[in-house]
Amino acid sequence: MQNISTVKEQQYYVHGEQLYLKNCSNCHQAKGTGLGLLYPPLAKSDFVDNNFESVICLMRNGIKGELVVNGKNFNKEMPGIPSLTDLEIAEIATYLYNNWGHQRDSIDVKEVSAILHRCQ
Ligand code: HEC
Repeated sequence: MQNISTVKEQQYYVHGEQLYLKNCSNCHQAKGTGLGLLYPPLAKSDFVDNNFESVICLMRNGIKGELVVNGKNFNKEMPGIPSLTDLEIAEIATYLYNNWGHQRDSIDVKEVSAILHRCQ
């Protein structure tokens, strides 16, 4: 939680953790380890580090087709969660990107909304 300094960031992080546990952890596991070759890891994932915009988009829209995480191939459809609001996606991203070996400057809902408009 090195980058989490302001009250707003702390709120994003705390809500993000709750939302992660509710919406993501049944597949990616509570500590982000994933599950074998079925569900890819989020912890230390190079995909997470290198594809910020795709990660924002896949929370809402899902993702399918082959993808490589830390040298391992995954190919199973992830359903999107269309009910997540822009703010909730920003909160989950704040949790994800300040945890498990990831590091990113503060993530704002405005930035996330702009990215969500660009998802195809
Ligand atoms: C029903 C199970 C399931 C749920 C729930 C789920 N995912 Fe996924 N997720 C997957 C699968 C399967 C893939 C791999 C997709 C592929 O092979 O194309 C994936 C891929 C990913 C990836 C890219 C690969 C990686 O590991 O870095 C990220 C990031 C991700 N999910 C984040 C999330 C987040 C955040 C949530 C909650 C908002 C979530 N997922 C909810 C199953 C799930």
